[in-house]
Amino acid sequence: MSFEFRSLMFGILILLIIFLIIADISEVQEEIGNHGSTRKFYPQSFSPKSNRDDGTEVDASPAAETGGSTPPSLGTSSGPPTPEWIFNKTLSNSIRKNILKFLDAERDISILKGTLKPGDVVHYIFDRHSTVNVSESLYRLLPAVSPMKDQHHQRCAIVGNSGILLNSSCGGQIDAHDFIIRHETPQKKKTTPLCNLAPVEEFAGDVGRRTSLVTMNPSVVQRAFQDLSSELWRGRFLRRLRDLEGSVLWIPAFMAKGGEERVEWAVHLILQHALNVRTAFPSLRLLHAVRGYWLTNKVLIKRPTTGLLMYTMATRFCEEIHLYGFWPFPRDLRGNPVKYHYYDALSYEYTSHASPHTMPLEFSTLRALHSQGALRLHTGPCGADT
Ligand SMILES: *[C@@H]1O[C@H](CO)[C@@H](O)[C@H](O)[C@H]1NC(C)=O
Ligand SMILES: *[C@@H]1O[C@H](CO)[C@@H](O)[C@H](O)[C@H]1NC(C)=O
Ligand SMILES: *[C@@H]1O[C@H](CO)[C@@H](O)[C@H](O)[C@H]1NC(C)=O
Repeated sequence: MSFEFRSLMFGILILLIIFLIIADISEVQEEIGNHGSTRKFYPQSFSPKSNRDDGTEVDASPAAETGGSTPPSLGTSSGPPTPEWIFNKTLSNSIRKNILKFLDAERDISILKGTLKPGDVVHYIFDRHSTVNVSESLYRLLPAVSPMKDQHHQRCAIVGNSGILLNSSCGGQIDAHDFIIRHETPQKKKTTPLCNLAPVEEFAGDVGRRTSLVTMNPSVVQRAFQDLSSELWRGRFLRRLRDLEGSVLWIPAFMAKGGEERVEWAVHLILQHALNVRTAFPSLRLLHAVRGYWLTNKVLIKRPTTGLLMYTMATRFCEEIHLYGFWPFPRDLRGNPVKYHYYDALSYEYTSHASPHTMPLEFSTLRALHSQGALRLHTGPCGADT
């Protein structure tokens, strides 16, 4: 084969791939469009090139017009500009009621002592062929009653990890909520560890300090605490756990294989130092139930992110839900780069095809819910708008 011929074939192949990607995208948008009218909160199709501006949040400034190609406008396709966000209690109640048909977060937020015993073999949710034995120490940390039993809060904040929080000055506003959920998101590359598991201290002005519930994927121990390879790292990890004083520590121990040793270390440290944290281990049905709810509402997620999981569960015990640090785009509306996480140097990878999540779809869903007053997405600085 001549060089020219191979170049030509290569070119055609590239064009074909681009075509397939575009076809795939328009298919998704078409589905979104088709069902948009049948569901109350179905996400409007996200249109990166639209410059429509409905005044959502403080981002809706003229600067958004030059915001670059990646972030979609926060505008939705309905109606005149609505600068004020108004909580729609009716809608929020009806969402809660519908979610309750799929899961009861008060129960599914954790496996309880009665339902497992030491030595029980559990199949991982994502790796059905792998199992883990319930250890004596993990069993001791299973709550006897749900850590969220009888909890009702007026205003809850769910704090994501997007770099959009940097320089937002949202810390005070976040801390003013009655219940504050923080979580870490999966990341794949090794990064310079700063701190993790809600690494709030040095970013307190932007992300706040208070935590009522924090999620800890077992992989955090490896990534951020060097797998506790030395006394120094064990000390740091212990300090982080101590900081959680009184909060709920939510550990998805049975989702994906590979984390059992890390879960054991965490569990061991908590027991050894009699730390005052309320551990929770999500029920084995939680993920499917959450996915089921969204699929039924035509939101075709593959695997919900921790953020969407938390929102879905929070509807059970929160009246008004405010989301901070959710921004799955590499640039903000003014075109400035946004870090993937506010606390590390991880490069942008929302578009990774290896990711099991569907972040832009999740985000457009949340944005649609925001514009209908079911929840509030905060995506700009918190200054004047508190
Ligand atoms: C609130 O949501 C309900 C149900 O979706 C809707 O019928 C109602 O018009 C909304 N109210 C306001 C003030 O937007
Ligand atoms: C898990 O439990 C099973 C049955 O109780 C036992 O055969 C197996 O060796 C245990 N595995 C580990 C890793 O402890
Ligand atoms: C935040 O503000 C500091 C100081 O003004 C600046 O150096 C930094 O680049 C800003 N970071 C972001 C992500 O905007």
